[in-house]
Amino acid sequence: MPWYSEEKIEEVRSRSDVVEVIGSYVKLKRSGNGYVGLCPFHSEKTPSFHVNPSRQMYKCFGCGVGGNVITFVMEYENYSFPEAMQFLAERVGVELPKGEMSAEQREREGLRSLLLEINTKAARYYYAKLKSPQGRQGYDYLRARELGDETIVHFGLGYAGQGGDELYRYLKNEGYSDSVLKETGLFKMDERGVYDKFWNRVIFPIMDVNNRVIGFGGRVMGDAKPKYLNSPETKLFDKSRNLFGLNYAKQGKRKNVILCEGYMDVIAMHQSGFTNAVASLGTAFTEQQANLLGRYTKEVLLTYDSDEAGVKAALRAIPILRHAGLNGKVVHMEPYKDPDEFIKALGAEEFEKRLSDAQNSFFFEVDVARNSYDMHDPEQVTAYYHEIAKKLLVFPDKVQRDNYLEAVASQYGIRKDDLRELVIRYGSQLPDGYQELPAERTVPQKKKTQEQGITHTYRLFLSWLIETPELYPLIRDKIRPEDFVEENFRIVAQMLYQQLEQGELLPAKIINHFTEVESQKMIANMFQTDFQTAMSLQEREKALNELVLRIKEYSIDWKMRSLTDMSELQSLIIEKKRWQTPEKLHISLKDGNS
Ligand code: UTP
Ligand code: MN
Repeated sequence: MPWYSEEKIEEVRSRSDVVEVIGSYVKLKRSGNGYVGLCPFHSEKTPSFHVNPSRQMYKCFGCGVGGNVITFVMEYENYSFPEAMQFLAERVGVELPKGEMSAEQREREGLRSLLLEINTKAARYYYAKLKSPQGRQGYDYLRARELGDETIVHFGLGYAGQGGDELYRYLKNEGYSDSVLKETGLFKMDERGVYDKFWNRVIFPIMDVNNRVIGFGGRVMGDAKPKYLNSPETKLFDKSRNLFGLNYAKQGKRKNVILCEGYMDVIAMHQSGFTNAVASLGTAFTEQQANLLGRYTKEVLLTYDSDEAGVKAALRAIPILRHAGLNGKVVHMEPYKDPDEFIKALGAEEFEKRLSDAQNSFFFEVDVARNSYDMHDPEQVTAYYHEIAKKLLVFPDKVQRDNYLEAVASQYGIRKDDLRELVIRYGSQLPDGYQELPAERTVPQKKKTQEQGITHTYRLFLSWLIETPELYPLIRDKIRPEDFVEENFRIVAQMLYQQLEQGELLPAKIINHFTEVESQKMIANMFQTDFQTAMSLQEREKALNELVLRIKEYSIDWKMRSLTDMSELQSLIIEKKRWQTPEKLHISLKDGNS
């Protein structure tokens, strides 16, 4: 993949309007100087996702994501930096240079594209192995599980041979270094040597929504344990944000998505024409996965295993779906364990019937609850009523809640008026106009980092400077980029100062400099600390002087701590004293420059 010059990156970025691009994914509404919408990266019912056209940046105050238009595309599409560039360039009709990157450029570009490239090669390697004579065992296994050749090709299934380090030797031969290969998660490395993580297993490549191989699953062909091995999380593979099969399911024409547990279930369903099936990757279903599904559908059919673990998993998934605004339904596959076994036993037509008989997820929850009470014991029946009443409160909308109440009462033979009374009683304990029950937040919100240290000061200072570039001449000689002791802040300050020197302030451009989403988010956050704009001139002046003093003191303290030559200590102490005398530092604000 080619690497792009700073000018090219900036050309693409500046031509791609952040409101227009994000607006094509997210419904945005005007608000003040910018736009707001529901954040596509976490579940919410009131918008906290802000897009700022003058800064050309976005920020979610709910989950903390933020960046420029390139960051958004990287995050939303799971693209690497160059891929996001290609996507945006095509959109705005900018020609990008072609040609291969040098090793050094590659390094700059970051690990992600390299990992993608290696994964693609690994997937091809496993596939070729499956089709080779040494892959016979794997191929026979898949055929024995009734997978056709077409299905095998479609999902790119493969086989990891018995050698123990075959993939490693192949990739070494292709010129990759150990340090990069380590990041793929495909190898075990220790003092004794390097081994392939997967050997003597059939391989399931895991693709993201854009058909890129981000990880692998491998199944033993017999009864050995563990049955499945999966790639660990890597720079590329975030299990909580991907679903197996979604790359195909998203193209489907069906109005809903089938959510199941396993690789084989997805593959069996697709083979039988249920191309809307996806699986959460051997982990519990997450809020991010629900959001991802929400891009393509409003209805999710749960086909978790019929055993106790499957029921538990469904009970965990239901509130997450509900919270993401998705309508969840539960598919019953008894007496079979999972979709794969069901379809093998009864065929696609019967399965289709089960899908259309899918049960409303609320009734499923009520059923499960009911099973844990003894309906002959009045005490237990009472407890059961109470539980149903509390459950009904997951519906914040009164009409919807009443409809459910009526339906539950008649279907389960519950006295309607009693139930209603309980619902009102429990409801009155909730805050007015509540959006959702706290208990529904099964996935904790990302912790808002409590940043009280120097970085908070840096952020305030930089935000202020961006908001009010007229301050620049006043502070230029007092705080220099070198005064920022954290490297990323120092880089950002350097670029910002340079822009201010040249009289062109483009905070979104600074983000271009960082090619990893994580860094971009961090940089975007540097510019997004809201401070009191309602402060009086005097208060602002005081605040600014305090900020500047803190940064300066910290910078001098830092130098003192890293001194090797004690003769300089004296001069640093004097310098610090000087800054602490108000006359030396004092910056006065006038209306118009603050
Ligand atoms: P199951 O144990 O239900 O297996 O695991 P399955 O899908 O029916 O598999 P087959 O039909 O025997 O091949 C469901 C999913 O849980 C994850 C895998 O993603 C699997 O598809 N899993 C299971 C693991 O990650 N590791 C394991 O050891 C077992
Ligand atoms: Mn199975």
